[in-house]
This record gives sequence, C-alpha cells and structure tokens, in this order.
Amino acid sequence: MKFFIDTADLDEIREAASWGCLAGVTTNPSLYARTGGRLADFEDHMVRIAGICEGLPVSAESTATTTQEMIAEGTRLAALAPNVVVKLPVCDAALAATHALAAQGVEVNMTLVFSAPQALLAARAGARYISPFIGRIDDIGYDGIACLEEIVRAVHNYDYGHEVEIIAASVRSPHHVTQAALMGADIATVPFGALKNCVRHPLTVEGLAKFEADWEKVRNA
Ligand code: G3P
Repeated sequence: MKFFIDTADLDEIREAASWGCLAGVTTNPSLYARTGGRLADFEDHMVRIAGICEGLPVSAESTATTTQEMIAEGTRLAALAPNVVVKLPVCDAALAATHALAAQGVEVNMTLVFSAPQALLAARAGARYISPFIGRIDDIGYDGIACLEEIVRAVHNYDYGHEVEIIAASVRSPHHVTQAALMGADIATVPFGALKNCVRHPLTVEGLAKFEADWEKVRNA
C-alpha cells in the first residue's frame, strides 16, 4: 500500500516527503482553509505543493457545481503542474465532468465516496483514483473498513481500460492504516498527525530509553 499525505500544510508535506515514504498528496477545501490561505492564493499554493512533490500525484479539489464549470476548473487545475490530479466529489455532474476530463488525459480523484455503487460508477466514468472516506462512516456508527473492503473488491473485479486505484481516505489512526492495507486498498491518505502516530509505538519508545540507559552504563564502565 502506498502512503499519501492528507494535508495542504507545506511544512507537513516537506517533512513527510523527507522520510522517503511519500507517494502523493491529497488536499480538499477544508484542508486548504485550515492553512489560513485565501481564495486568490489557492492555485499558487497548489503549484507550491506540486513543486515539493515533483513527480508525485497531488490532488487539487474543484469547488465547481456544474459539469461545464468542473471541466473548466479541472482543466485549469490540471494545467498548474504535470502532477496535479483533479479532485471531484461524486455526483451526476462530476461523473460527466470526469468522463470529459479523462478523455482529455486529465486524471481525476473522485472523492466523498461512501458506497460500492458510487465507486463502480466513478471507475466507469474514467476516475483514476477513488477515495472512500473510512472515518466519516465510523463517525455515523457504521463500519468504514467493511465499506472500504466492499469497494476494493467490487472495483478490482473489473477492468476499466485504465488504471484505477482506491485511496482509503478520512483515515484517523494507525489501526485504520493497518486495516486499509489488509483490505487491499492501493493507497492510504493519512493526515500528518496520524502519520506520525504510525511511526510511534510505546514499546519502541520504552525500548529506546532502555538502550540509552544501558549504553550510558557502558560509557561509564
Ligand atoms: O481525504 C479526505 C479527508 O480529508 C477527510 O478526512 O478526517 O475530515 O473525515 P476527515
């Protein structure tokens, strides 16, 4: 499973990229708002992220609401850098826009996916990536991982004539990451805090403290 980082924060992206484990970045309007960015700076910000992660897919989300506007905005976003992927929320208008953008060679990440039928339609329309939101399904009392498993199995049962990867999104914890990998998700997009929690383990911390204490004894012997 590949790791994407789910953030629009440049420092977080730089640090995660420095680990050498990063395969891409996903952003959305909420994540951009969290950076304190203004509308006028949005496209420049996406260019900066694309520059930090040269060669890796960077999802920039369209906020358009009609097919024609999505195609226009998607075409503009895709032209910002060769590694920009256009993110569209699944709906009738976005399926039609995905179909048109894919025909132009623009990669689309279909987001806000919560069911296998939505995912199957996204794949058929031409989406390159499909993003089921695990945590938000858990939030309303259902099983996000079970839903992800259904989506992975259903989508990967078929050939679409183009590559389709499932991105486990709305990931909140190392447990989600483990489960996403066991369910066969191609990618997990993980917020920086959860990514750091994936690195840490209490027994690693405890073990390191013991190594340091024992090494101190060796130095003083
Ligand atoms: O990639 C989707 C993600 O940003 C949504 O996460 O935690 O807001 O449900 P969350």
